[in-house]
Amino acid sequence: MTLIFFLFAFLFSTTISHVSARDFCVADLKGRETSVGYPCKSPNNVTVDDFVFSNFKVGTLNQFNFSFTPAFVDHFPALNGVGLSFGRVEVKKGGAVPMHTHADATEVIISTGGKYTAGFITSDNRVYTKTLTEGNIFVIPKGLLHFGVNVGKGKASGIVVFTSEKPSVQILDIALFGNNLDSGIVGKTTFLDVAQIKKLKALFKGSG
Ligand SMILES: *[C@@H]1O[C@H](CO)[C@@H](O)[C@H](O)[C@H]1NC(C)=O
Ligand SMILES: *[C@@H]1O[C@H](CO)[C@@H](O)[C@H](O)[C@H]1NC(C)=O
Repeated sequence: MTLIFFLFAFLFSTTISHVSARDFCVADLKGRETSVGYPCKSPNNVTVDDFVFSNFKVGTLNQFNFSFTPAFVDHFPALNGVGLSFGRVEVKKGGAVPMHTHADATEVIISTGGKYTAGFITSDNRVYTKTLTEGNIFVIPKGLLHFGVNVGKGKASGIVVFTSEKPSVQILDIALFGNNLDSGIVGKTTFLDVAQIKKLKALFKGSG
């Protein structure tokens, strides 16, 4: 009887300490990143600031006339292994977010203002598109090409959530025109004419 009690007490105490050590795996950003993320910081070195991201502000406009402020694991260590990250987006009047994909993450757009026509294209090439206004949430399934255009009279803003702490992104224009892939090959494989390809290569800083 006493033996059983001690056995239980032992199991219970090891379980407790085991669980508390696994409450979180805050990223040690100086550690080597692997396919499963960063190594964990020693819990003794973790502070509340690891759980708070303080720079979720509107960023500066890029060449497409939208800004994107990421809150990914590289700057927000508590996201390590959590499978979530965030972005703050603002699209200038007339601006657009070009066709792109996140191979490893579903994206959720939470509109916080303006009129933004968002959409995605499925693998059988159906288009699902909707003009979002404040109070709308839109889900973009993992890996599908998607886009957005500000169709309102002012800026459009939103918060995006990704189901990865560090989503990949591939932008179609940059894949086609922002590298040194030969313009003749781009032409053959897209049916675009070479003059137009050269123009886009100049715009997206590609060559070839
Ligand atoms: C904790 O932080 C200190 C000071 O930055 C560092 O020297 C030490 O290696 C860290 N310990 C662990 C286990 O990460
Ligand atoms: C961005 O906005 C500026 C100023 O309104 C405009 O001249 C430019 O053509 C826009 N760029 C794009 C890609 O829409």
